[in-house]
Amino acid sequence: MYTQAMDTAAREGHEAPAPRPGEDPALQQRFDARIDAGEFIEAKDWMPEAYRRTLLRQISQHAHSEIVGMLPEGAWITRAPTLKRKTILLAKVQDEAGHGLYLYAAAETLGSSRDQMLQALHGGRAKYSSIFNYPTLSWADVGTIGWLVDGAAIMNQVPICRCSYAPYARAMVRICREESFHQRQGFESLLTLMQRGTPAQQAMVQDAVNRWWWPAVMMFGPPDEASPHSAQSMRWGIKRVSNDELRQKFIDAAVEQARVLGVTLPDPALRWNEARQHWDFGAIDWDEFWRVVGGDGPCNAERLAARVQAWEDGAWVREAALAHAARRQREPLAA
Ligand SMILES: [Fe+2]
Ligand SMILES: [Fe+2]
Repeated sequence: MYTQAMDTAAREGHEAPAPRPGEDPALQQRFDARIDAGEFIEAKDWMPEAYRRTLLRQISQHAHSEIVGMLPEGAWITRAPTLKRKTILLAKVQDEAGHGLYLYAAAETLGSSRDQMLQALHGGRAKYSSIFNYPTLSWADVGTIGWLVDGAAIMNQVPICRCSYAPYARAMVRICREESFHQRQGFESLLTLMQRGTPAQQAMVQDAVNRWWWPAVMMFGPPDEASPHSAQSMRWGIKRVSNDELRQKFIDAAVEQARVLGVTLPDPALRWNEARQHWDFGAIDWDEFWRVVGGDGPCNAERLAARVQAWEDGAWVREAALAHAARRQREPLAA
């Protein structure tokens, strides 16, 4: 999920996408014409190197976000208050693992191996969505993540179902269906706490919303005028809707949902603007955003350490699978 990462390339020192010398202009022209006609590009089709690299960076960051995103909520599986909530949370966290799997597979079609992508993550060279560098302090955080974080993810991801790169677009169709379940389960969990909970439980929900609101608003990435690669990604049909447009759509929906829940969004500047037919909102603390993207969030080190540990703990499974595959090759009947 969580496409804020795709716009951070300039701050990470990647080069801006540009046509490569030596690329056949006729192939380039045909590619541009296909994009303009709204056609999908398949893995076997010719594509400009800059398009391939941009997609590879975006899809691998997206895949990393899915699996790192399992960590904040995974910590609550053993502490879920009822069997029903535990079952729902288990299903959601497993869904996120599946999302990572589809996306790593889509990224592999662009010529990078999963091992290479994971090495980049574990070495701190690859980004994932900075929303997962915030801690989950109470049970209400789980519902709030479903409502706001998965809710923001849906806004970000639905347009990617029409992304010009077909393997990515196909993966997103299924992912979006599951994200929709994630958002609803979160909202329903909070509604239960707000309508049937004690005053202490209601206060717990408000506290969680206070902490998650601004990081969720930041998930849409920097403002359009500070997103240097957005125009190129729009031209290529990778990005369909701008960061600011998506953010506004999310805020408009969340204000109504907060009213139903009976919680206050922590932004005193939220005001309905009759002329714009949208909700106005307060200034976003972009310094905090860049600080967390840059590695200085509350849980950056903890999240990365957990992923590296999981990789090391799984070494024996990978070795066993490779040994089994080699044996099958040597002795086909032994399989
Ligand atoms: Fe997901
Ligand atoms: Fe999700």
